[in-house]
Amino acid sequence: MILSEETKKQLEDIYQSFLHDEKIIRMKKISMHRGSNCFIHSFKVAKLAIKRAIRHKRGDLFTILLGSILHDYYLYDWRVDKSKRRHHMGSHPYTAAKNAEKDFGIHEPVKKVIESHMWPVNVRNFPKSKEARIISNADKSIYLKEIVCSRRFKAKRQDKYYKQIALLFD
Ligand SMILES: [Fe+2]
Ligand SMILES: [Fe+2]
Repeated sequence: MILSEETKKQLEDIYQSFLHDEKIIRMKKISMHRGSNCFIHSFKVAKLAIKRAIRHKRGDLFTILLGSILHDYYLYDWRVDKSKRRHHMGSHPYTAAKNAEKDFGIHEPVKKVIESHMWPVNVRNFPKSKEARIISNADKSIYLKEIVCSRRFKAKRQDKYYKQIALLFD
């Protein structure tokens, strides 16, 4: 898929507006695997999902961009709030979708991709659309990359991550 300069600019503008949005920046406080956090993770998923969608000429890029940035917008740290720990894996997609709807007024297709990103953990919620499958797969790829890193050099790695997510198209 060859993107027009106009579409590219529109996507980059949306990406940048989320990257600097105070509500989204709250995700930096939620730690994730080995130096990553929810904010870094979500933008990494967005970049990979968009790259794959363009390469394979699949899916609506705007739905993919919003869905991936917001797929883990659940806004609590289960490592701190122990009451959330038990059901986190299965329930966080629904919490994220609800928060995203409340804060950003997302439409149904975006809500659906967020809710189904944890398949097959949520075995009944298969990602039915192309967009949902691209996000669910990109999420798993990024997750795997994050967890195979060593525990050392966390701070250094975090700096590198922030540089990597600074632009959607670099
Ligand atoms: Fe998730
Ligand atoms: Fe995720």
